[in-house]
Amino acid sequence: MTTGWSNTFYIHTFGCQMNQADSSIMTALLLNEGYSQAENEDEAGIILLNTCAVRENAVDRIENYLQHLQGLKKRRKGLILGITGCIPQYRKEETLGLSGAIDFLAGPDSYRALPFLIEEVRAGRRPSALEFNPAETYEGIDPRRPSSISAFVPVMRGCNNMCAYCVVPFTRGRERSHRFSSVLAEVRKLSSAGYREITLLGQNVNSYSDPGEGRSFAELLGAVSQEAPAARIRFTTSHPKDISEALVRAIAERPNICNHIHLPVQSGSSRVLAQMNRGHSIEEYREKIALIRSVIPRVALSTDIIAGFCGEEESDHQSTLQLLSDIRFDLAYTFFYSTRPGTLAARTLADDVPEEVKKRRLQEIIDLQNSISSEIYQQAVGSVVEVLAESESRRSSAQLMGRTDTNRAVVFERQGHHPGELVDVVITGATSATLTGRPA
Ligand code: SAH
Ligand code: SF4
Ligand code: F3S
Repeated sequence: MTTGWSNTFYIHTFGCQMNQADSSIMTALLLNEGYSQAENEDEAGIILLNTCAVRENAVDRIENYLQHLQGLKKRRKGLILGITGCIPQYRKEETLGLSGAIDFLAGPDSYRALPFLIEEVRAGRRPSALEFNPAETYEGIDPRRPSSISAFVPVMRGCNNMCAYCVVPFTRGRERSHRFSSVLAEVRKLSSAGYREITLLGQNVNSYSDPGEGRSFAELLGAVSQEAPAARIRFTTSHPKDISEALVRAIAERPNICNHIHLPVQSGSSRVLAQMNRGHSIEEYREKIALIRSVIPRVALSTDIIAGFCGEEESDHQSTLQLLSDIRFDLAYTFFYSTRPGTLAARTLADDVPEEVKKRRLQEIIDLQNSISSEIYQQAVGSVVEVLAESESRRSSAQLMGRTDTNRAVVFERQGHHPGELVDVVITGATSATLTGRPA
């Protein structure tokens, strides 16, 4: 193995929390092999782009970035560039055609091969490792996380749903759950290391099932919350059809499980949901929300919406707006539909909503949601909320940024507090996305 800067690596992470968790796994794998972590791209001999393929603009971003790296490679001889994550898994060897600067590809189940792939590049080859491994959960790897306050803990990988628009089943493969005991062992370690927030991750966490005894996600969540009583426990992402009453009760009963559920709905129209192959109607979704709110009265809800899916009519769009008005989510992540080659929708449905209509509908959704979020946040002014301080605010080191247990972002006067502390904050102001205040 060569020494010096050529053995330092930098990982640039795109996409969802699962990719962030995978980058921590890759970091651990490379450190274990004697590589060292560069502070930034300019000091690295190996650059990895851990990529996302979920929407077309995610792929465009990578293509732009590759142009920048191509320039960097010309200036720095011997620099190795690996593309990991969901784009190579989705596009396979075709990914190599995106740029001559790419030296190797590794899919989400192949990270144990990273040291081997780097050696192959040094031996003059251009390798790829894109096999799915349905048994891979990276058990035994102790992830190297960027934060000492908040930790992601994957509890399952892959997705067995076949939502018509979605590439994830193609980029992540079949669902597999981590062992109950290994999740608890990881949580125990994080708890004794002083972590204050643990987020359990899965594409569809509610379908978690312990490979040993089949214990459910509700049981896992309850056990995790007892294992780390001083930490806030969160989880994402839930699929509406798999939210169980036992899960909702676990959230209500355990004080350190956060009162926030991210429950993507995608559309307010049952007709569109059926086309999307989501496996539930909008009435069933509303029933789940009613159950959640009856058991956890102060719960905060967030969602994902896709505007302009195949065959979406104006009346379907109106149903989505109506749903937003009725449910009053704290927050919605909103996207206009982009067709992904190979998915069920791309194969069987026409992408027939014109782009300007998709964008107009999306804007209407965003405007409505912003006004609802502003109203909800405004109602918090004057109250005292408990905030877990995560970092200094982007604007000033005299302010800290953190979240309430309901996942609302709060920026507040520091007054001697530090990241990692729980601080009671009086809320003095609000926008549609942030609360502001000072320690009580
Ligand atoms: N597993 C999670 C996240 C999936 S990707 C879940 O089931 O919710 C995150 C979000 O991206 C989705 O909820 C959806 O709103 C959006 N999305 C996925 N594919 C898309 C596509 N082809 N076009 C637009 N938005 C998409
Ligand atoms: Fe994609 Fe649906 Fe699986 Fe979520 S549940 S990852 S949207 S296929
Ligand atoms: Fe993107 Fe892959 Fe996550 S496609 S959303 S990084 S699972």
